[in-house]
Amino acid sequence: MKVPEFRDKKGKEKLSMITCYEAWAAQIVEGTAIDSILVGDSLQMVMFGDDSTLNATVSLMARHTQAVARFAPSKLIVGDLPFLSYRLDRRSNVTAAGRLMRAGAHAVKLEGARGNLELVQHLVDSGIPVMGHLGLTPQSVNQLGGYKVQGRRSEEGERILRDALDLEKAGAFGIVLECVPKQLAADITRQLKIPTIGIGAGDETDGQVLVWHDLLGLQTSFKPKFVRRYLNGAELVKNAIDGYAQDVKQGAFPAAKEWFE
Ligand code: KIV
Repeated sequence: MKVPEFRDKKGKEKLSMITCYEAWAAQIVEGTAIDSILVGDSLQMVMFGDDSTLNATVSLMARHTQAVARFAPSKLIVGDLPFLSYRLDRRSNVTAAGRLMRAGAHAVKLEGARGNLELVQHLVDSGIPVMGHLGLTPQSVNQLGGYKVQGRRSEEGERILRDALDLEKAGAFGIVLECVPKQLAADITRQLKIPTIGIGAGDETDGQVLVWHDLLGLQTSFKPKFVRRYLNGAELVKNAIDGYAQDVKQGAFPAAKEWFE
């Protein structure tokens, strides 16, 4: 899928997106019905165990984007611009976006609208499609005081709606709405011409995104309310590893078909 097709699905077909960070995982997604992959800076949390995304760097995001893009050629690949990488001077901001695009992304995602609108317009005018991200913006966790639902108060909700309209006007082709009340996400979705992709934003957005480790039940220490696990991944992996350990102890692995004469 390419950006125009993604945008055109609004109102016709729901869009499915999953995060993905590695080559082997991208190879699996390539054979699925998923529309789009987000190489999210959430990798800093789910792969490295940090409690925020703040340590993700452009180099790290570019390396993972390259691994994913190579193995999922039919999917729309969105590369996440990490913390501060788009809040510097124009030259550095454009360089960061360019690195993700050269790594194989078809588009970049950035968090928040205020202070980003000119950059969004400039990137779009430079041939770089931009996806916005509003509501709970994890790179601002210190400003927000934690990973909390955003936009419950009416003035907060109105601001998120205004930000969404501003991003659309600046040229964004889609917006992730994270952890906002269902009604607010529905209102924003109705007022925008571009698709909204929800995560913890109810069922009236134009699509949904889930983090790989959450969807597959690989991340067991915490399950946010909005996550649905489609696999008991951690338990299945643990059972497989235990099976291997047991076979080694009992001399059942390797067997003749697994060695060289
Ligand atoms: O980094 C990420 O995985 C994200 C999603 C949660 C939308 O931004």
